[in-house]
Amino acid sequence: MRVEPQSTSAYDVLVGSGVASRLSDYVGEGVRKIFVITQDNVPRVEVPLEVENTQRFVPDGESAKTLDVVGELLGEMSSFGLGRGDLVLAIGGGVVSDLAGFVASIYLRGVRYMTVSSTLLGQIDAAIGGKTGVNLPTGKNLVGSFWHPSSVFCDTSLLNSLSEREFKSGLGEMVKYEFLGASGLTLDALDESIAKCVAIKADFVKEDEREGGRRALLNYGHTFGHALESLGIAGAIDRITHGEAVAKGIRFAAHLAHRLGRITDRELDHHYQVLSEFSLDISIPEKVTIEDVMPYIARDKKNRGSITFVLAQSDGEPSVMRGISEGDLHCALKSLHQYL
Ligand code: GLY
Repeated sequence: MRVEPQSTSAYDVLVGSGVASRLSDYVGEGVRKIFVITQDNVPRVEVPLEVENTQRFVPDGESAKTLDVVGELLGEMSSFGLGRGDLVLAIGGGVVSDLAGFVASIYLRGVRYMTVSSTLLGQIDAAIGGKTGVNLPTGKNLVGSFWHPSSVFCDTSLLNSLSEREFKSGLGEMVKYEFLGASGLTLDALDESIAKCVAIKADFVKEDEREGGRRALLNYGHTFGHALESLGIAGAIDRITHGEAVAKGIRFAAHLAHRLGRITDRELDHHYQVLSEFSLDISIPEKVTIEDVMPYIARDKKNRGSITFVLAQSDGEPSVMRGISEGDLHCALKSLHQYL
């Protein structure tokens, strides 16, 4: 006998200014109630909801992504009488879509959710692909599920309300797509650039929904980046945003790939050119050592018992490389600080 669950259905991602106004077209038949999850710092979105709804504001920033908040939301969804055919609506950035997607995935063993993504980082990455989850004290996104939204609204008019730092954080994530098949990403045609990133992500997710292979490449720059981000949270260095960490992580990964003979001098220089086109701060504090980052690198989810990075290579797209030595990490960090 075989059990053959149906695969997840496809869903639309709308990109453009004002697309959130089309939300009610996507609510779907039979929805009686909508449980909206958002944050105070998210711009107010005029969402035409023609069915009974309630809004829940969760704490700002990553502090919303805890199992305590999950427990509270589940209790409130139940008290509100949200049923199997009803809907969770996430309005916000990656924190909100990760959290709302997770509660939607476990409430009544799974209800539909839609996302109005309000940040650049969310629109090009977090809101798409069905990775949901919350943090544990031991690390980010350690509890979660794969649960796809039923539609995503990347309303680019919402990006105007982002602080410069938040916007730049999105650019740090966007830049990785330049190494994953996108070309000509530019702020001058931002909507088109966002759409290009969404298309690339959709392609990766279609091929490898559960990150058994190619989807891991979307973590380009994230291994060293996550370690720096975690050092910031631990107070060992100044706090940095996720996208800032990814840009710095791409810089490190380029030096590691170069050290391992996977890319040429010109390709290393090309990494710097791309990072500078987006005017990203790629400085890495001199005081950060490999010993500082190793505990985080060792806990990385890609890591199966040996040091693992997504690394560029001359002939083709980046690939996952396992079995990297600590000595190579030391050499990469040294060459990074010496690079002129
Ligand atoms: N953010 C990487 C992924 O969704 O796979």
